[in-house]
Amino acid sequence: MRGFAWSSENEVFIAQIDAEHRDLFQIAERLEGAIEAKASPAETRLHLQALAGHTEEHFKHEEWLMQSVAYPSYAWHRQQHDTARRRLKLFVPLIESEDGEAAEVFLDFLDGWLHDHTTVTDRMLGAFVRNYERAHATDPLGRWSGPNKETGGALRHVRETGPFPKTLKYCAACGHQTAHEMKVSGLVCRECAQRAVGVELDRD
Ligand SMILES: [Fe+2]
Repeated sequence: MRGFAWSSENEVFIAQIDAEHRDLFQIAERLEGAIEAKASPAETRLHLQALAGHTEEHFKHEEWLMQSVAYPSYAWHRQQHDTARRRLKLFVPLIESEDGEAAEVFLDFLDGWLHDHTTVTDRMLGAFVRNYERAHATDPLGRWSGPNKETGGALRHVRETGPFPKTLKYCAACGHQTAHEMKVSGLVCRECAQRAVGVELDRD
């Protein structure tokens, strides 16, 4: 029995990626519903287009994220995305031509792939990204400018600069401590994220 309902088992603990996964599961569930209900070809096509479009957008986002943190298992992870890309390319036209058997085979593949990929491969990526963020967090002690004879140093430093900001972050792409709004992943500022995604999309 297939199960396209997203659950905490599929959580990778990166808010943006989890949100995209939830959408992906929901779109797959709608496609399955349309196929099982023998919906019109036009309606089924809409669900297929939504699935293909969202999948590609999501893969590009993850692949860009992997590159931005120099993820060591990028090739392995990308290979799994490419497998799903190839299946989509092969099966979408078959399902659009109302090949019921192909639709069932594809849904079985998608069910297994989504489950395996999110619970293992994407979760590993999530763990790496979180560690990367921790490793690149600013060391507050690094801001200390040295002892001060009058006050003993540390006290004066705190008085002059105020409390340490709660979210002192550096953009992984432009390298600046950014005043820009950060993406949910907290790795790059929104401006760099948009530019990088735009470049990726322009290539296709
Ligand atoms: Fe992935």
